[in-house]
Amino acid sequence: MSTQLRKLHARRIWDSRGRPTVEVDIILDDGTLGRGIAPAGASTGTHEAVELRDGGSEQGGYGVSKAVAHINREIASALIGKDVMDQRAIDDALIALDGTPNKSRLGGNALIATSMAVLQAAANARRLPLWKHLAGEATVTLPLPEIQIFGGGAHAGRRIDIQDLLVMPVDAHSMDEALAMVADVYRAAGELMADSGRRAGVADEGGWWPDFSSNEEALQMLTRSIEKAGYRNGEVMISLDIAASEFGSGGIYRPGLEGRSYQREEWIAVLLDWLAKYPILSIEDPVAEDDTEGMINFTQAAGAKVQVIGDDYLVTNAVRVRKASANKACNAVLIKPNQAGTISETFDALQAAKACGFSTIVSARSGESEDVMISHLSVGWNAGQLKVGSFARSERMAKWNELLRIEEALGSAAVYAGRKALPV
Ligand code: PGA
Ligand code: ZN
Repeated sequence: MSTQLRKLHARRIWDSRGRPTVEVDIILDDGTLGRGIAPAGASTGTHEAVELRDGGSEQGGYGVSKAVAHINREIASALIGKDVMDQRAIDDALIALDGTPNKSRLGGNALIATSMAVLQAAANARRLPLWKHLAGEATVTLPLPEIQIFGGGAHAGRRIDIQDLLVMPVDAHSMDEALAMVADVYRAAGELMADSGRRAGVADEGGWWPDFSSNEEALQMLTRSIEKAGYRNGEVMISLDIAASEFGSGGIYRPGLEGRSYQREEWIAVLLDWLAKYPILSIEDPVAEDDTEGMINFTQAAGAKVQVIGDDYLVTNAVRVRKASANKACNAVLIKPNQAGTISETFDALQAAKACGFSTIVSARSGESEDVMISHLSVGWNAGQLKVGSFARSERMAKWNELLRIEEALGSAAVYAGRKALPV
């Protein structure tokens, strides 16, 4: 097996929103192919690795020709001849080559697509599925899925303020059963929307378009959908991604639908009221990324009962995770490879979180592709949870379906994480 990198080639392809993105193919000396595709966010955190876009008027400024050129020139000449079995050495070389703290020179999109292609090439060279390449002989679990039923915020023209209204089938016994339960809820929600004359298609991640007059009405409709699907005893619980950085900063919150502004503590009181009224077991970015005081206060008030996830707040960064743990600012982290910019840094954030006792949720972005690597990361790294968007559109379904194949491959060794994946 000769696992030296012989050829590296990047091209422009198109993501699930019809925007350009970067795809990287790596060929090893033994002829093995490894491929990586950069996903892209819409509600991005300020401290994420920077996505390099061309700007200007073509393709709405979303062009990736600069990122593609960086890979085909600088990155290719730095990596050719390197052994893809040493992911860490390659990622360190990428970070050094870029030379900036936020990967803005070569582009976080260029780096993550390359890093993903290296990882996939290593697994392919060993003729192993990626989850197995990562897990080795360690016991793995199939992740508890968080699946969006209504999509809002930046993914639905800010029709409502809450970005994701999701469900978690906590009491399923297998991945197969978990997905079937979510399918029931998704269908029930679609029927309720149609019955009320408000079915207006789907948002960016495939969740029903949120044609509601208040944020709370969306919560009521989600609760009714779970009940209509026949789940009444907490078998299916709600998870919310507030993505509060989209409508709050400096401790002031201005959710568009509520028609008023809130001081930090008033906003937290709104969220606590929702937690008291609806079967919510997880909440992400309840306050803005710059509001550490709000994160601490919210976690103190609710963290014993619900999972409090840092996404924009932690940006898949091990240093931020450790700090949040010391401050008790949340109890879980969203793990998005392109926020970090390399696979090794993504893994470091996950390991830091596990060491702190945080739960970990591997996550897709709102701009996705047919790539299913995150399904494998969630199993192979034993993350416990996976968030991919909704239960529609093939860039989402490809990832859920991949978990069914992995579950089948595991056979009698397959264990569904379920409720145990949560920190509470
Ligand atoms: P994004 O949204 O990919 O648009 O950032 C996903 C999330 O906030 O979890
Ligand atoms: Zn989020």
